[in-house]
Amino acid sequence: MKQTFATLLVLCSISFTSLVRADPDTPLGEQMSAVNDAYKAMGKEADAAKGAALAREAQTAMLKSLEFKPEAMEKLFPDKAAAEKALAVYRKMIGESFVIFCKVETAFLEGKTEDVKKLLDEAKALKKEGHNTFMEE
Ligand code: HEM
Repeated sequence: MKQTFATLLVLCSISFTSLVRADPDTPLGEQMSAVNDAYKAMGKEADAAKGAALAREAQTAMLKSLEFKPEAMEKLFPDKAAAEKALAVYRKMIGESFVIFCKVETAFLEGKTEDVKKLLDEAKALKKEGHNTFMEE
């Protein structure tokens, strides 16, 4: 009985994990997911070389993100002129995120842990702003 309950618990937690960690279903979502994995790992990384490598992963994914448009673009900005402006803002923010991850790389290499933390907070703020502006509720 105890064993059946334990098996059930494991199965429930597996299906819950797959529910909350849905696979990205857009090319941009795929890049964002890569940024997210690197971002989370950087926050826990103490090794300079490994941290710098993670920062480069985030940089690459941000650069690739420039190739795509947010999925909800047309829905959120149906007006042509507004959409054009919004796309310029999108590119600017992705570019700023790229620069932040370049600074994170340098901070790791220079052993400036406090700077890494501050920069990751800056990236988090950009993420929040980007998601508020370019994703549907
Ligand atoms: C540290 C920075 C960031 C992180 C960690 C991050 C993380 C994520 C994650 C985890 C997703 C969901 C991916 C999925 O499973 O589909 C996502 C989606 C998305 N993010 Fe970010 N993000 C960041 C910055 C930004 C910025 C700066 C922007 C906009 C300028 C942005 C725009 C979007 C959009 C539009 C989507 C939805 C995907 C689509 O439209 O195809 N993100 N992001």
